[in-house]
Amino acid sequence: MSARLAGKVVFVTGVARGQGRSHAVRLAEEGADIIGVDLPRPVENMTYPLASQEDLDETVRLVEKTGQSIVTRAADVRDRAALDEAVAAGIEAFGHLDIVVANAGVCPLGQTPPNTFLDVVDVNLVGLINTFNAAYPHLGDGASLIGIGSVAGLVPGSVDNPATGPGGAGYGYSKRAIAQLVHDFSILVAPRGIRVNAVHPANCDTDMLQNDAMYRMFRPDLESPTKDDASLSFPVMNAIPVPWVDPLDVSNAVVYLASDESRYVTGSQLKVDAGAIAKAVPL
Ligand SMILES: NC(=O)c1ccc[n+]([C@@H]2O[C@H](COP(=O)([O-])OP(=O)(O)OC[C@H]3O[C@@H](n4cnc5c(N)ncnc54)[C@H](O)[C@@H]3O)[C@@H](O)[C@H]2O)c1
Repeated sequence: MSARLAGKVVFVTGVARGQGRSHAVRLAEEGADIIGVDLPRPVENMTYPLASQEDLDETVRLVEKTGQSIVTRAADVRDRAALDEAVAAGIEAFGHLDIVVANAGVCPLGQTPPNTFLDVVDVNLVGLINTFNAAYPHLGDGASLIGIGSVAGLVPGSVDNPATGPGGAGYGYSKRAIAQLVHDFSILVAPRGIRVNAVHPANCDTDMLQNDAMYRMFRPDLESPTKDDASLSFPVMNAIPVPWVDPLDVSNAVVYLASDESRYVTGSQLKVDAGAIAKAVPL
């Protein structure tokens, strides 16, 4: 069987680790070349460390191991000029751009300053808009834009739960807005066959989940909960009682939406959530 993305070029943000790295590697395994950005420096009011230059280098190594090519930049998705430059460098290397995966995101939970709300929206929502904007002038008919949302965007209580703090409220708000943006923007670009979809993961086994601030959110009864302690609570959200999905589970959905197999799928909210949304929200 031929590769599902042979000859395609994909722009992935937050590519240095976690789901972004997994997407880049899976997309490359299907024959795509990658333009990738990440931010190997801190974001304000974070409660866990973001990716390092070493992480970004490791993604490059893993993509190149598939036989495909990757162009990376240390670029902040809040910096439109830096994204324009990264895309230009990718176009120079590969000649075109076909698919975008706006994946970069932050989720600082707990008691942080109120403006953490704005910091999170700036990365998660404005960053996605900047990413789509940087790519748009280069996209041909039939391109695919994919935004990474979250279960948090589609269940009640993610914006008004005081326990998650201002960062958690900004997270729920930004992910809800991504779902709405994908729906509304998809209609405008549909005449060109350009598709716009969101993927909404449940808790996923990455550094965004595996950190002390998140463990405290899921085990407020303990002073210093461990991963094992939190793992007992994580499955409660899901209909299929697993604590989390793996990055690869999300990447497989991304590959489907990136490929022509989904050529008439647009404006959709694809949930990779172990049934979390079905459990929380009546149809
Ligand atoms: N992990 C989960 O439980 C979970 C669940 C649902 C949705 N998501 C979403 O999945 C996406 C990927 O997250 P992940 O789970 O891989 O977490 P992660 O923290 O491992 O990866 C996020 C990546 O984004 C990068 N990043 C953060 N701010 C950036 C910025 N301003 N500019 C460029 N890069 C930036 C980070 O350095 C990191 O490499 C995010 O959009 C996240 O909200 C995660």
